[in-house]
Amino acid sequence: MPRPTRPPSSPLGHLAAAAAPLALVGLLAGCATAPAPVPAAPAPAPAAAAERIDDPHSYAEPWDVAVTHLSLDLEPDFDRQVLEGTAELTLDRRAGADRLHLDTRGLDVRRVTLGDGSETEFALGPEDELLGRRLSIDLAPGTESVRIDYATSPDAAAVQWLAPEQTAGGGHPFLFTQSQAILARTWVPLQDTPSVRFTYDAEVRVPPGLMAVMSAENPTATSPDGRYSFRMPQPIPSYLMALAVGDLEFRSLGPRTGVYAEPEVVDHAAYEFAETEEMMEAAERLFGPYRWGRYDLLVLPPSFPFGGMENPRLTFATPTILAGDRSLVALVAHELGHSWSGNLVTNATWDDFWLNEGFTVYVERRIMEELRGREYAEMLASLGGRDLADTIRSLGPASPATHLHLDLAGRDPDEGMTDVAYEKGYFFLRMLEEAVGRDRWDPFLRSWFDRQAFEPATAQGFLAYLDAQLLEPAGIDPASLHVEPWVYGPGLPPNHPEVDASRFAAVEAERDRFLAGTPAAELDTAGWTTHEWLHFLRGLPEELSRDRLADLDAAFGFTGSGNSEILAAWFLIAIANDYDPAYDALADFLRGMGRRKFLAPLYTALAGTEEGMARAKAIYAQARPGYHAISRGTIDEILGWGEDEPPEPEG
Ligand code: BES
Ligand code: ZN
Repeated sequence: MPRPTRPPSSPLGHLAAAAAPLALVGLLAGCATAPAPVPAAPAPAPAAAAERIDDPHSYAEPWDVAVTHLSLDLEPDFDRQVLEGTAELTLDRRAGADRLHLDTRGLDVRRVTLGDGSETEFALGPEDELLGRRLSIDLAPGTESVRIDYATSPDAAAVQWLAPEQTAGGGHPFLFTQSQAILARTWVPLQDTPSVRFTYDAEVRVPPGLMAVMSAENPTATSPDGRYSFRMPQPIPSYLMALAVGDLEFRSLGPRTGVYAEPEVVDHAAYEFAETEEMMEAAERLFGPYRWGRYDLLVLPPSFPFGGMENPRLTFATPTILAGDRSLVALVAHELGHSWSGNLVTNATWDDFWLNEGFTVYVERRIMEELRGREYAEMLASLGGRDLADTIRSLGPASPATHLHLDLAGRDPDEGMTDVAYEKGYFFLRMLEEAVGRDRWDPFLRSWFDRQAFEPATAQGFLAYLDAQLLEPAGIDPASLHVEPWVYGPGLPPNHPEVDASRFAAVEAERDRFLAGTPAAELDTAGWTTHEWLHFLRGLPEELSRDRLADLDAAFGFTGSGNSEILAAWFLIAIANDYDPAYDALADFLRGMGRRKFLAPLYTALAGTEEGMARAKAIYAQARPGYHAISRGTIDEILGWGEDEPPEPEG
């Protein structure tokens, strides 16, 4: 494995030190490599899918008219914070179907023309807060495509416009999109359902000096005139549409892998992600050929609301995983894993989000086992199992929210984004693996990805395939494995697998010694990885004296840690015990990044006391303008924001 020289310091330090909210992030600048050959694109699925899938989160009626290709032409206007241009949609029509239905939210639709150039009637339906407005377009008998002239609104939820101060370089603006789950419709008029797949191409014009990248074949160098052309030859669902624009540079990591980031960050990123090619090779051994050509990563500015987003060919990632020691790269294995589970085999609706995420956590841990060994993967599984137990406890063990298959009609699909989909999904697959053994399980899983490639999947379809191809041939009755209760029932069935995290036994022994009074400096923590530290911290009792916290902090430097996961775990302990020496660093952390997974528990913990709530609101007032709409929505709710505060100044 190539080991590039380690950069001098972790960019997270930079993050926390930044004076301006969310001061670290990236734009583009270019580089050049020859694109790897892309395997022939499969023919788009007969769009108006043979089988009718009703997606409660989309107005589209693809069984009548389905989009098979999108040609985008877009120009971002950084001053007005709008994307302006055209979307031309190629259609697959059932005989007699004369209307196309699309999803839009907040789009200014100016004109619709048919393939022959004639203008046509269109209608925008009533506004639904969550779903936006249906766009219905009248088609002429021979119409094979339509062209929509439109602009986005400055508050499009998928798009974040960053001022130069919110980037690492500080000299250029930045823009990125986040389409999952149903936000693609806020920047492109399309059939915003994961049950429809289309290929796309795009022309994007940006201010000279900036680079544009998409979930497509990408440039590696800045174009002198600011014009970029993209092509995505494999059909994808709308939630995988993505665009970023900024001062970016590219570094190659291997023959098919590389990383984009701001110049200030790109070498850190290349160091951190040096194992990416090896991950891809491991994944291909396990799950079959990688079907998307290249796999690159884009490190975003710290306001990116997620850890990672599996945009095909170009994973978007938070800079908070740049720990400087490659300890948080399971996230790369996860997003790469989506190249099989999610991007290739896609949940038909958000009710089966677990088919994307539970499978991907399973794939992620198998990849990490290949790279770092069984013990390491078991630490990840153990931490996940613990998160799951906490989540089930807080949702209530009988709650329908703990089912794998959900009923999200009428609700935000984000509500399905809990550890249940991720970790209960993982443990379900692991239970199956253990029941039949890897000799049978691995070829079965691979065959599922092959058979279902570029198609939507449902829980029902998976269970039927499981029964026919794996359980029945092995002479196993699915009822004996509680298969239905796993998927359609609450909590954790009795046959949930046990994790063997032997490395955590030593951690527990040291934690017990500490709790029995041994000074922190005398604990044997040699060789502990981030995950051992997380296990140590998460298992501490809720109440600890200030002296003991100060002792831990002095010995291990938690308050000054450059590792975002360790910081977040430590700050929760600090808040619970009102350990104020950590408060400045906590405020810097909350102002310095916008990753919702860290923000939500910390703001929630602060909101538990009156002083904490006051502290939280003071921090939030400063930080909010720099957070992404997705994170703002969550934190607004936690703090009851907007109920009594005056509107904050424009960010
Ligand atoms: N696809 C998800 C992110 C997502 C889910 C965005 C639902 C919007 C709606 C991505 O693959 C993911 O799971 N990211 C995790 C990290 C992962 C290692 C568990 C995250 O962002 O924390
Ligand atoms: Zn995921």
